Amino acid sequence: MILQTDHLEKRYGKITAVNNLSISIPRKSVFGLLGPNGSGKTTTLGMILDVIEKSEGSFTWNIGEKGNERKKIGAILESPNFYPYLSAVENLKLVCKIKEVSYDLIDPILKQVGLFDRKEDAFKTYSLGMKQRLAIASALLSDPEVLILDEPTNGLDPKGIVEIREIIREIAEEGRTIILASHLLDEVQKVCTHFCVLNKGNLIYSGVVEELSKEKNRFQLRAENSDLLKLALENSNQISEWSEEELFFSVLIKKDSSIEVLMQELSSKNIFVNHLSQKTFNLEKKFIEILDQQL
Ligand SMILES: Nc1ncnc2c1ncn2[C@@H]1O[C@H](COP(=O)(O)OP(=O)(O)OP(=O)(O)O)[C@@H](O)[C@H]1O
Ligand SMILES: [Mg+2]
Repeated sequence: MILQTDHLEKRYGKITAVNNLSISIPRKSVFGLLGPNGSGKTTTLGMILDVIEKSEGSFTWNIGEKGNERKKIGAILESPNFYPYLSAVENLKLVCKIKEVSYDLIDPILKQVGLFDRKEDAFKTYSLGMKQRLAIASALLSDPEVLILDEPTNGLDPKGIVEIREIIREIAEEGRTIILASHLLDEVQKVCTHFCVLNKGNLIYSGVVEELSKEKNRFQLRAENSDLLKLALENSNQISEWSEEELFFSVLIKKDSSIEVLMQELSSKNIFVNHLSQKTFNLEKKFIEILDQQL
């Protein structure tokens, strides 16, 4: 685990922004902190970055040398602050000076975030998505082991959102751990490997995205001769539910059976499946269920 929080708490007078939060963030994961507005996401990120003072509890970073952890963490918490009349390169040079790193890093990082072609243009001429990408570039300059992002795609159009997601995935592939806050389920489902759900400061769920994203026993299949397939499904003991959809049959495999057994059964009847896919599960439904359980 790269980060462990232990009963972390933040109170603002009567408001408990984060309550009794114990989470573990695996190294090299893309960890999503998911929750509606006001659920305590930004406050949590602020505490683990030491920019918001915690009221109670503790957290431990498992990186770098003791007392030096902060240097290994890159973060974008608020809308990025750059000098409007300076170009991307000039702005990043200033960041390099502050962080005491070489200017040589600037070009490769600008390429990575897709700003290389616009690097001489003034920051004020940048679109919101470009500003966000420059902020990510700036955070990458210190070669962080952990990158923390608060609502990285807020306000971006669909194309901008896809671009940021691709950059996040690439950064994760470099072996960095990413912690991001989002109120968008879709975003968490698309980029995160692990996630937790906060509601009114309380941890109400934590898990692995992939396990949620696939409802293990539901499959879609198709065969050349769909009448034969239909008949076989009607008579099969391996499935508890089936339905005919436009292009496929959708089946739910019984708990004590498996897709392999069904395939064997079909092929013994000379029915050869030419399309098989596991149905993706809608995290949104699950998320709403989770929130409903809390009411
Ligand atoms: N400085 C502050 N003073 C008082 N209350 C605060 C302060 N900062 C946050 N809060 C309260 O703490 C709670 C959690 O806020 P936080 O900003 O962490 O939520 P969030 O999940 O990031 O929300 P959003 O999705 O809107 O960004 C809210 O009720 C908020 O009003
Ligand atoms: Mg927030």
